[in-house]
Amino acid sequence: MPGAGLEDVVAAATSISDIDGKLGRLFYVGYDIHELAPNSTFEEVVHLLHHLRLPSRSELEKLTDNLIAERDLNPWVAALMPTFATEASPMSMLRTTVSAMSAHDPDGWDNSADANYRKAMRLIARAPSAIGSYHRLRNGLEPLRANPKLSHAGNVLWLITGEEPDEDAARIMDICLILHADHTMNASTFAARVAASTLSDLHSAMTAAIATLKGPLHGGANEAVMKMLLDIGEPSKASAYIKTVLADKQKIMGFGHRVYKTEDPRATHLRGLSKEIGEAFGDTRWYEISLEVEKTVMDEKGLYPNVDFFAASVYYCLGLPIDLFTPIFAASRMAGWTAHAREQYADNRLIRPESEYIGPRNQHYVPIDQRGEQK
Ligand code: COA
Repeated sequence: MPGAGLEDVVAAATSISDIDGKLGRLFYVGYDIHELAPNSTFEEVVHLLHHLRLPSRSELEKLTDNLIAERDLNPWVAALMPTFATEASPMSMLRTTVSAMSAHDPDGWDNSADANYRKAMRLIARAPSAIGSYHRLRNGLEPLRANPKLSHAGNVLWLITGEEPDEDAARIMDICLILHADHTMNASTFAARVAASTLSDLHSAMTAAIATLKGPLHGGANEAVMKMLLDIGEPSKASAYIKTVLADKQKIMGFGHRVYKTEDPRATHLRGLSKEIGEAFGDTRWYEISLEVEKTVMDEKGLYPNVDFFAASVYYCLGLPIDLFTPIFAASRMAGWTAHAREQYADNRLIRPESEYIGPRNQHYVPIDQRGEQK
C-alpha cells in the first residue's frame, strides 16, 4: 500500500529537530548532534528544545534550579509506587505514573502555554525519580531523594543504583540523555502530537508517547539488544548466532532505521562510549561482541546499527538494570516529547489522516437469528 507506515509522509512542521537520513546527520534546532554530544549538557538541551536557543548562564541556572525543585514525586503518586513495584512492568509503571501525575499537578487542567511549560519541567524532573523509586521498592529498599548537587544525568544514576556516580559515569550518562532527547517525528513523538492536537492535556500526550515507545520496534529494542549480547556471551560466537537468527527470518534488534540510510549519528557516539566504559571497567566483552554483531549484520543484510544498539552495552556497564533501559530512554525523550506537544499546542490543527478502505462494500444488515454460526 502506498504510504504504508506513513513512510516519507510529512506529518508536522517543526523547529525542534531535523534528520538528514542520507548523510546520517541529526540536528537539534540547527545544532549538529556531533557538536552537542561532547560539549553540551542535558539541561542545556532541555532549554534548547523548549526555547529554541541555547541558554545564557543565568537561564541555565534558572532551568537547573527549576528541575532540582521539581524532582520529588507528589505524595499521592509516591504512594502508588509500592503497588507498581510488585504488580507492574517498568514501562507500564512509567506510563501509568505519568498519567496519574496529572491528578495532582499544581497546574491542574490548565492547558495554557505557561502552565504546560511548568508541567513539562515537572515531567522531565520527575521521570527519573519515578523509575528510581520503583526500582528501589521492588528490591525491598527505600526510595532515595534526588541529590541537588548532582546533574540530571547524575541523578538518573544515583536514584536507580543508589551510588553517587563519579564524574566519568555522570558524563557518559549525560551524553546518552542528550543523544536520546529528541528525534523528529518518530512514532512516540507522533503519538504525543496526535494526542496534543485534540487539545487533550500534556500528561495525556506523554502517556500516549510512553505507550508508543514501549514496543520492541521502537524504544523497547535496547533491552532486547542486551539480552541478545548476554545470550551470545562471547565475541567468537556472535557471527554464527546472528546468521542463525537471520536464517530464521527474525530481525536483529538495534539495527535498521526508517529514516537513516547510513550510520545513525547517535550510534557513532554510543559506539565510542561503549568502548570507553568497557575499558574503564576492564571488561570490553560487550563492546567486542557488539562489534562482531555489527560486522555480521552489515555483511549479511547491509544494515547499520541504530541508537538502541550500542546504548545497551553502555547502560549495562553503567550498572543499570536491563528492564530499565527503555524507561531511561523515555526519561530523556520526555524533553523532546514535551517540546513537540507544546509546539503542537502553539499552532494546532487536529491531526486526522485518511485511511484507504479495503473491506467489503454493499453489505446489508441481517438479524442475528438469521445469521447462522461461523464455520
Ligand atoms: N534485522 C533484520 N532485518 C531487518 C531489520 C533488522 N533489524 N530491520 C529491517 N530489516 C529488513 C526487513 O526485514 C525488511 O526486509 P524485506 O524487505 O526483505 O522484508 C527490510 O529490512 C525493511 O524493513 P522494515 O521493517 O520494513 O523497515 P521499517 O522502516 O518499517 O522499520 C525498524 C524500521 C527500525 C522498525 C526496523 O528496522 C526494525 O524492526 N529494526 C529492529 C528494531 C529496532 O532496532 N528498533 C529501534 C529503532 S530506533
